[in-house]
Amino acid sequence: MIYLDNAATSFPKPQSVINAMCRAQLCGANPGRGGHSLSARAGETVYRCREKLAGHFGCKSENVIFTCNCTAALNTAIKGVLKKGDHVIISSLEHNSVLRPVHALCEKGIISYSVARVNPFDDNETLRSFASHIRENTRAVVMTHVSNVFGTVLPVEKICALCKARGLIFILDGAQSAGSHKISLEKTGIDVLCVPGHKGLLGPMGTGALLIGEGVEISELTQGGTGSNSLSPAQPTAYPDRLESGTLNLPGIAGLCEGVSYLEKIGAERYVISHEGELVRLLCEDLSVIDGVRLYSEMNGGKSTNLVSFNLGDLHSEYVASLLDKGGFAVRAGYHCSYLAHKTYNTSEKGCVRVSTGVFTTKKDVKNFANCLNKIAKDKKM
Ligand code: ALA
Repeated sequence: MIYLDNAATSFPKPQSVINAMCRAQLCGANPGRGGHSLSARAGETVYRCREKLAGHFGCKSENVIFTCNCTAALNTAIKGVLKKGDHVIISSLEHNSVLRPVHALCEKGIISYSVARVNPFDDNETLRSFASHIRENTRAVVMTHVSNVFGTVLPVEKICALCKARGLIFILDGAQSAGSHKISLEKTGIDVLCVPGHKGLLGPMGTGALLIGEGVEISELTQGGTGSNSLSPAQPTAYPDRLESGTLNLPGIAGLCEGVSYLEKIGAERYVISHEGELVRLLCEDLSVIDGVRLYSEMNGGKSTNLVSFNLGDLHSEYVASLLDKGGFAVRAGYHCSYLAHKTYNTSEKGCVRVSTGVFTTKKDVKNFANCLNKIAKDKKM
């Protein structure tokens, strides 16, 4: 099976990730919850990963909060920042992990929200759309960096600068960009970044992180044991303890640290732009000449990205994906948990097929994929 579903989770993982997870599980103790040396060793593993992520994304290590996935990080950021009466702006390409928490708060009468239209061909137009939605009570912008359906890269620097100028909190969903695109809270002024550990960062599933910029206050959604101030009935106020109640996923965190180390060794940004982006370009060239293929590659506005989506004639995308599966290729079709993105590009009826490359994908893989799709198109008399 050729795996081309790296936008859902990266696979395979580097061997060093698997080894680190096994080592952490063999150690077996709870970080920060015992005076013994095994607990101290577990604590060091967590600390190393905090430092690693802080260095990778340009923030203070105590402002790195471990979560169980990117959705949990986004929920904490959204619900921990927004207060009653606030207004928030999201983009027209948001994943349900942004839309649903925002929509739920709105349904409860706590906040209101607007959707800014993304123009993949004109970043200034996108910027104007965000600006046009700002109201007196707007408190934050929550925006994806890269669309998980179409690979559209949103103009982070421009929107972040707009937020700075207008006193808004900028929350970035790095679900599809962390590990493949350069992101620095410090340099860009991003207030909050939410990332999955198991996609571009090459860590295991069940890991994610919330990275918080200087002076940004996020209230906790859960209270409980933090291994600190145990004699106080009140939740600690300092990060990371404020937002990290309960036992952490030690094997996951150990694996995540190695995933980021692996990326840093191969030179993450350069690698993705020159390798994964190049593979997607080659793939687009091959797919664009197959009869019946409607490619959505223009949605990335000419920017380098590691995924592309398409449809084949009038066939439902899930059906096409099942034929590709039989041909030995793993892709994701359907609606990709993204109501807004499919609504925006009128693909809600049959969804679309998404092909996403990873650090281990080869030219041969994408060539074979195009040949397989070509054969399916011929069999279906496109
Ligand atoms: N959000 C992930 C995807 O786009 C799971 O497939």
